Amino acid sequence: MIIGNVNIERPLFLAPMEGVTDLPFRVICKRMGAGLVYTEFIASEALIRNVKKSFDKMNIIEEERPVSVQIFGDKIDSMVESAKICEDSGADIVDINFGCWVKKVVNNNAGAAFLKEPARLADMAEKVAQSISIPLTVKTRIGWDKNTIKILEVAELLNKTKVAAFAVHCRTREQGMKGNADWSWLPLVKSIAKMPVILNGDIFTPQDVKRAFEETGCDAVMIARGAIGNPFIFKNAVKLLDSGDLQEEPSVEERIRTCLEHLRLTIEYKGLPRGLYEFRKHYSGYLKGIYNNSVLRQELVVLESFDEVESKLMEYLEEIEARIQLV
Ligand SMILES: Cc1cc2nc3c(=O)[nH]c(=O)nc-3n(C[C@H](O)[C@H](O)[C@H](O)COP(=O)(O)O)c2cc1C
Repeated sequence: MIIGNVNIERPLFLAPMEGVTDLPFRVICKRMGAGLVYTEFIASEALIRNVKKSFDKMNIIEEERPVSVQIFGDKIDSMVESAKICEDSGADIVDINFGCWVKKVVNNNAGAAFLKEPARLADMAEKVAQSISIPLTVKTRIGWDKNTIKILEVAELLNKTKVAAFAVHCRTREQGMKGNADWSWLPLVKSIAKMPVILNGDIFTPQDVKRAFEETGCDAVMIARGAIGNPFIFKNAVKLLDSGDLQEEPSVEERIRTCLEHLRLTIEYKGLPRGLYEFRKHYSGYLKGIYNNSVLRQELVVLESFDEVESKLMEYLEEIEARIQLV
């Protein structure tokens, strides 16, 4: 598919996730088959004030392209300026967050607060889109609450802008992350939108990916929680979509080798000890469902080097293989 002038190999996107979609995780998901990866959201005010931590979120390597850099904020001038900074820093696409539900963001009139005023949302999107030469996309929700579903109005308004595509997290702001994502809005949105529409919300398996395309007619799917500790979802969805085959669950060995590669990249990009400490939150995802995982995780989180983690995981793998041979 194409977004603006950016060619995207597969309509399987890794969603923006603060604290999760850093460079190493994006690279892992890309290798597994994600067609487009998003950075964590970045405050426009921080970018224009040159805050290093925010700039670091925009570090991109060739292997992961195309990459969409997501920004948020309430002031048009700051958003325009920060979008230009993203473009100059090598983003392939800039995305505006109009969906964040957390109070800190909404109370500052940013994120999902825009859903209260669709005209302000479209105006912000158009001004930012006009200020850059790479594509501008937006990510939003279906509405503020169940009585104020705004997504159809938003779709109409975005048609009149230079926005190249938009993603819909099929929940309201009021829902936060609770309840189910309501995909039934997507076919209606698709009937209005003159640009690609990306479905987001509650995609946890390759079968969900297939069903999302079949039931909603969306142009792409965006996966968030379903990819945490499970980047294999991209590989398995590609297989299911391309050949109709359902890949078996990743083996313990594949989980461990991917975990180690992810850790290696994290240490390479963040250094020690930060990389090792920040990575600790990923162990539970990679080790989910495997024998004695909670004990193993407790042993891993106190280790202080890559080599120690590697030895521990390889020792565990040998133990598992020996057990399998005994059975
Ligand atoms: C840990 C975490 C961090 C998130 N950070 C962002 C973010 O920075 N920007 C954004 O637009 N959405 C963010 N989200 C929302 C997701 O992108 C996505 O819209 C939501 O999780 C629903 O998709 P899912 O059902 O596939 O998880 C975050 C979600 C999670 C779980």
